[in-house]
Amino acid sequence: MNIEFVPHMPVMEAEVVEFLRLQRHDVIFVDCTIGYGGHSNAVTQTFNRQDRLIGIDRDEEAIAYCRNRFANAEFQVRFHRIGFDDLDQVFEEEGIEAADAFLFDCGFSSPQIERPERGFSFLRDGPLDMRMDQRQRISARELIHSWSEQELGEMFKNYGEERFARKIAKSIVRRRQESPIETTQELADIVISAIPMRYRHQEGIHPATRVFQAIRIMVNNELDVLRVGLQKALDRLRPGGRIAALSYHSLEHRIIKERFREFCGRCICPPGLPQCGCGARAQGSIITKKPMKPCAAELERNIRCRSAQLRVLERFWQSP
Ligand SMILES: C[S@@+](CC[C@H](N)C(=O)[O-])C[C@H]1O[C@@H](n2cnc3c(N)ncnc32)[C@H](O)[C@@H]1O
Repeated sequence: MNIEFVPHMPVMEAEVVEFLRLQRHDVIFVDCTIGYGGHSNAVTQTFNRQDRLIGIDRDEEAIAYCRNRFANAEFQVRFHRIGFDDLDQVFEEEGIEAADAFLFDCGFSSPQIERPERGFSFLRDGPLDMRMDQRQRISARELIHSWSEQELGEMFKNYGEERFARKIAKSIVRRRQESPIETTQELADIVISAIPMRYRHQEGIHPATRVFQAIRIMVNNELDVLRVGLQKALDRLRPGGRIAALSYHSLEHRIIKERFREFCGRCICPPGLPQCGCGARAQGSIITKKPMKPCAAELERNIRCRSAQLRVLERFWQSP
C-alpha cells in the first residue's frame, strides 16, 4: 500500500465491511464514492487476483490519491473520474453487465471541507467554490450571483431546511448589488447577520451550516444524482448482491429509504387508484431493518459522523 497518511476517516467502516465482504468468487465491488479509499481498502482485504475493485469519484484529487494508494494491490483495480449517475458508462468501459456490491458514501470528504481553496467551509476562508468536480462550470460563486432572491430563498429552505431562508436571500441580494461576494467568510458573515441574534447558536451548529449545505447540494446537484445513481446500481446488482448507502442529512436519508423501499416492492402509485399501475415488485430486501448509526466509540473518535445512517439492501437470489 503506497500511503503514509490517509486524510479521510471512513465512517462505520467495520459495519460496511461486515455487510459488503461477500463470500463468493470473482467479486466485483463498485465503490461509487471512493474518496480516499478507506472503505475500499477495508472491503478488499480478502480480495484475490480474480476480484475487482471499481473506484468512482468525481474529484480529481481523490482519484489521484487512490491510484497511488492501490498501486500495488494484488487484485484488479480500476478508477473512473465520473459522477456515479453515469454508472452505465463505467459498466460499458469495464465490459461488464452487473456487480456484486456497491457502496455510496454520500457527501464530502475531509480534504474537500478542510482545504480552504476548495471553498466548502465557513470555518476556513477561501474562494466561494464548492465544486466536487473541478471541471464543472457552475461554482457557488456563480450560483450566489446569478440566482434571484426568490430562487435563493427556496434553495435555502428546500435544501438547507433553513428557517430564515428568505431573510438570508434578501441580505445576499442586497450585498451583491454593492460588491461581489467572493469568499466563504464573506458569505458566512452575511448569513449570520441576517439571522436574529437569539437564533444564531441553536442546535449546536454553526449558523451558516444550513445555507452552506443547501448551496453545496445545488452546486453538485447531489440529490438528483443520488436518485439516479442508486437506481442504476439497483438495476445492475447481481442476485444475492448488496448495496450499502451512508447518508448524512435528512434529505439524503429520505432518498435512500424511498429508493430501497421501491426496490423491495412498495407501490408508488398515487393514492386512490383502483389498482396498482406502477408495477411494484419485490426484488430484494432491506437487511438493516432500522438504519444503523455510529457507535459511541466512533463518535468519540470522529464527531463528523454524528448524523450518519447506514442502510443495506440485498437482491434476492431468485426473482419471486
Ligand atoms: C464521504 S467521501 C467518501 C469517503 C470514502 N468512503 C473513504 O473512505 O475515503 C464522498 C466522496 O464522494 C464523492 N462524490 C460525491 N458525490 C459524487 C457523485 N455524484 N459521483 C461521484 N463521486 C461523488 C466526493 O467527491 C467525495 O470524494
